[in-house]
Amino acid sequence: MPKLTSDQFTKRLSRQTEKEADRLAETVYTPDMRMEGQSLIRMLQSFMWNEFYFGMYPPAKQMNRLYELNDGDVTADIDIVVELANMARDELKHAKLFSNRIEELGGEPDLRKYEPTDEQVEMFHTVYDHENPVLLAACQQVGIERFVPKLFQALVDNDVVDDRTKEVLHSADLDEPNHLNVGRKILLRYATNEEIQQRVMEVNRAACKSMYDLYGVEYERNADELKESIA
Ligand SMILES: [Fe+2]
Ligand SMILES: [Fe+2]
Repeated sequence: MPKLTSDQFTKRLSRQTEKEADRLAETVYTPDMRMEGQSLIRMLQSFMWNEFYFGMYPPAKQMNRLYELNDGDVTADIDIVVELANMARDELKHAKLFSNRIEELGGEPDLRKYEPTDEQVEMFHTVYDHENPVLLAACQQVGIERFVPKLFQALVDNDVVDDRTKEVLHSADLDEPNHLNVGRKILLRYATNEEIQQRVMEVNRAACKSMYDLYGVEYERNADELKESIA
């Protein structure tokens, strides 16, 4: 891999992930598709679980790991820490938005009663089990979270869901640019050498693949595309 500044690297990684998010959203939600009744409830329950688990656990761990990385200097990276705390707050709110909509539809709105699928649990481990806050950002904010606005938008644009659910998706989407930004900020500050950039690429790829697995779509990160994206 040629030498890249963290800025160049972060931009290219973001583009790569965005492309993959677009491809998945186009594949899974099409204009002929409608979701209502139990299938809608089930989808919203899985969204509620994702918002909570992927929205709360990774930023909490990133805050802890940054503290350790900074040898207990509580002032270091405080800009990032504040944004991570904001993110966790937002995601808790998003989980609640979905819970409320599930209740309106007559489904079980309690997160604790939802049983995640094997693929969700698998994706959780793929994202969360890293110790390094930079790798966590590669998987979460710059990885799977990049897919969320694309998937929500595809549900809306293709009229897959009713108007009230569209409003909820819109509300749950408004804070997402801030979450992407905190991920970018972590990479800009810390993905400064080839070794960490290589690791970031690897774990980002695994996270994106787990998102495809969640939807049962075959994942492929084209080697040429990758070359083009990092060249
Ligand atoms: Fe969210
Ligand atoms: Fe988010």
